[in-house]
Amino acid sequence: MASLTVRQLDEHIKKRLRLRAARNGRSVEDEVRTILRAAGEEAGPEALEQFTPTGKQPERRDATASEANHVLLIIGGGIAAYKSLDLIRRLKERGLSVRCILTKAAEHFVTPLSAGAIVGRRVFTDLFDPTGEFDVGHIRLARETDLILVAPATADLMAKIAGGHADDLATTVLLATTAKILLAPAMNPGMWSNKATQRNLAQLIADGVAVIGPNEGEMAESGERGTGRMAEPLEIVAAVDVLLRTRAPGVLRGRRVLVTSGPTHEPIDPVRYIANRSSGKQGHAIAAAAARAGADVVLVSGPVNLPDPPGVTVVKVETARAMLQAVEHTLPVDIGIFAAAVADWRVAHAGEQKIKKKAGKMPELLLVENPDILSTIAHRESRRPKLVIGFAAETENVTGNAKQKLIMKGCDWILANDVSPQTGIMGGDRNTIQLVTATGIERWPPQSKDDVAAMLIARIAAELDGNKA
Ligand code: CTP
Repeated sequence: MASLTVRQLDEHIKKRLRLRAARNGRSVEDEVRTILRAAGEEAGPEALEQFTPTGKQPERRDATASEANHVLLIIGGGIAAYKSLDLIRRLKERGLSVRCILTKAAEHFVTPLSAGAIVGRRVFTDLFDPTGEFDVGHIRLARETDLILVAPATADLMAKIAGGHADDLATTVLLATTAKILLAPAMNPGMWSNKATQRNLAQLIADGVAVIGPNEGEMAESGERGTGRMAEPLEIVAAVDVLLRTRAPGVLRGRRVLVTSGPTHEPIDPVRYIANRSSGKQGHAIAAAAARAGADVVLVSGPVNLPDPPGVTVVKVETARAMLQAVEHTLPVDIGIFAAAVADWRVAHAGEQKIKKKAGKMPELLLVENPDILSTIAHRESRRPKLVIGFAAETENVTGNAKQKLIMKGCDWILANDVSPQTGIMGGDRNTIQLVTATGIERWPPQSKDDVAAMLIARIAAELDGNKA
């Protein structure tokens, strides 16, 4: 390979090169080599192959949507950081262009060298790194990305982002960006359930940050179990996929959708509660389908044994009153879909301590009515979603009861289903729906809950386009 000569370059370029070389203690030729190496790593081998000395750009070949997407992965300092190396691989497998920042704490778990080797380009660590700032710079890192993924997102990082801190490269980039942000939290279950973390989580969600996980399970600390494990790389990549697809045509692209799902638990005392048999499968399937269709989805869920749908912001609640509060907090939305089986009653005075059994003496439980979430939102004068959709879980007179509910609750559509035990719908994987609107009834064939969800999304999209399917 020919050695470098800088003599033919313009004077002003030579001057800047000399200054930069002096600052870095290198010869001008070495400085040019460093810049070329960094540019090659930055743009990838293809860019160097396609570069033409005339400055003419090679003809643009057709790129798939994912090839055009840039993801900036911020690795936080937690034991789950080792999974982030696999995550990089998974993101690259999808053809995404990945850049990576390691926080100071992350460097205790993975090195810039190992992350850089998998990313295939330099990894950024320092806000005040003059070479880094010259080559890319934190503002470019913030701008030249379609999505910033923080994995693992530690309690400390979440607190800093929620508070708008900017005291290192990661937080500065997060504050400067207008790109979508996805957090994959990972921490000890005690830290996760701590009020401060939950407060920061609620703030981040309200600020439009998407969150995946954490999952429940065995923790790194031996013998510890609980909610705090980082979501698996494949789950995170699926969430990235859904979030990035909002840039491609999708039938609900640009729409904000709220879905309620699952049962609610109404406490009798600290250990007992009133519940119902809802599994949350239908509501969760709807949230997932809406996200796949490009919508920005918030799922307010009661207690369920289901994974969080990818690319969906999940707010977990226990009681009907907490569900209503979370729903109100999520407004405004374009579409509200109320699939939760909300408990109609709660115990007026739940025991603060476990109610003790006394022979022959039954406790008297006074029940009071819970708020009707669907009806409250459908009757709102301000910030009522354009389309309010409820369910009707019936065991008899399905159509008649559904029609009545449509009127009583003030919603636009009711999806009625027969939940008698012999149908297997409650808790099962299939559903048979009658869609009741002000103008008529559509009877959908028996199908999987995923297919019901897909059909509903297509139906909503057609309605919003004013082009009834
Ligand atoms: N719903 C709600 N809040 C409640 C009760 C119900 O938001 N407190 C919503 C459900 O999410 C569903 C619709 O209302 O979209 C109908 O729920 P369903 O359980 O079928 O009916 P109920 O209103 O509970 O009336 P009933 O039990 O008499 O059938």
